[in-house]
Amino acid sequence: MAKTNAVVDWIDARFPLTSNYKTHLSEYYAPKNFNFWYYFGSLAMLVLVIQILSGIFLTMHYKADAAQAFASVEYIMRDVPWGWLVRYIHSTGASMFFIVVYLHMMRGLMYGSYRKPRELIWIFGMLIYLCLMAEAFFGYLLPWGQMSYWGAQVIVNLFAAVPFVGEELSVWIRGDYVVSDATLNRFFAFHVIAIPMVLLGLVAAHIIALHEVGSNNPDGIDIKKKKDPKTGIPLDGIAFHPYYTVKDIVGVVVFLMVFSTIVFFLPEMGGYFLEYNNFNPADPMKTPPHIAPVWYFTPYYAMLRAVPSMLSSQFPGVVVMGAGVLVFFAMPWIDRGRVKSIRYRGPYYKFALATFVVSFVALGWLGVQPTDFLGKFPGSSVEMATVLARIFTVVYFAFFVLMPWYTAIDRELPEPERVT
Ligand code: HEM
Repeated sequence: MAKTNAVVDWIDARFPLTSNYKTHLSEYYAPKNFNFWYYFGSLAMLVLVIQILSGIFLTMHYKADAAQAFASVEYIMRDVPWGWLVRYIHSTGASMFFIVVYLHMMRGLMYGSYRKPRELIWIFGMLIYLCLMAEAFFGYLLPWGQMSYWGAQVIVNLFAAVPFVGEELSVWIRGDYVVSDATLNRFFAFHVIAIPMVLLGLVAAHIIALHEVGSNNPDGIDIKKKKDPKTGIPLDGIAFHPYYTVKDIVGVVVFLMVFSTIVFFLPEMGGYFLEYNNFNPADPMKTPPHIAPVWYFTPYYAMLRAVPSMLSSQFPGVVVMGAGVLVFFAMPWIDRGRVKSIRYRGPYYKFALATFVVSFVALGWLGVQPTDFLGKFPGSSVEMATVLARIFTVVYFAFFVLMPWYTAIDRELPEPERVT
């Protein structure tokens, strides 16, 4: 013991080891009422680590070359020892990342975690979300299957819809007039190094900002208002380590059970985690009849398809789709409620959040379907699915646009003094 202390003392004289351990773990006081929804932050960190580790091993055998990429993935699946496992871990991890992050964001909406003083935690979170989308998009091109190729073609072409500079912009992104070997090489560079580095930096900033102001909780009240006069420790706070490190391990165990069930028994998840058409090599001469992004992008894809083009330009759809993502940044400033948590919110916020969730899920579902799957709207030439997507897009945006109004007039309940 004395020896360990001597080593720690030696390090402490040169590096703030013990002080950081205390600030972020043993003396970081988190509210004692964390619930189910508070598992997803640590799970997001776990998935990030899983993706980086499995990604390193994939990179050892993958060939970023249009002539070899598809075959190198098949080689990983069939010939590399345990390659199939590494690949399925990475492909399952991509979808699980979005599931975990969507639930993590949902917690923020339920308990008002984006509100003052946590605006920066939210902004860093949103930047993480944007990076995650970029990371998934770049990574999806790498297996060089039909969906990889045509998905990238469709998305990069959206930039061509930008007025005046669009054409040049899309050529600049691709490095060619169509998605090609040059595109594959740059997407590889972004996927394996550029975006992961930014992601790691943002996650660090996210946690530093969180530990600066302290965690919110399911009651949405400030635990720092009631401190023990002698110790200065919040009365409703408990040390992160050991209490929450142990609680988070429970989440990790359950999560890994679900994760490994998918990896070993359902790696394609019915075509949602790995799309069937992507088992065919990319063919620039053959456009697939139905191109859809992976499920986590489909709410926005449905918005894109819902907006009618103007002067034969898709630009309005691109703007609406972009706004659908970026509008989350505004949350801390458009919410005028006097309480944070859904527990004490009035009926308007509860109704608005419920309709928002329904519209997000409905758009996601519509986005995976071909537009003609419900036939035409009676007595019109417009597809039924397009009409539905338009309605849900309006409902989606109404949640944000009307927020300053309905949160200001809502009939809220009084918040408790201490956590319940
Ligand atoms: C790689 C992705 C992410 C990681 C690793 C991550 C990690 C974490 C961790 C460990 C916590 C503390 C534990 C918890 O409250 O669950 C946290 C809190 C938080 N995160 Fe994230 N996060 C990520 C993405 C996001 C995104 C996309 C958003 C929202 C746009 C977000 C918003 C928040 C907020 C508002 C809090 C404070 C919650 C509270 O105190 O109630 N995070 N994050």
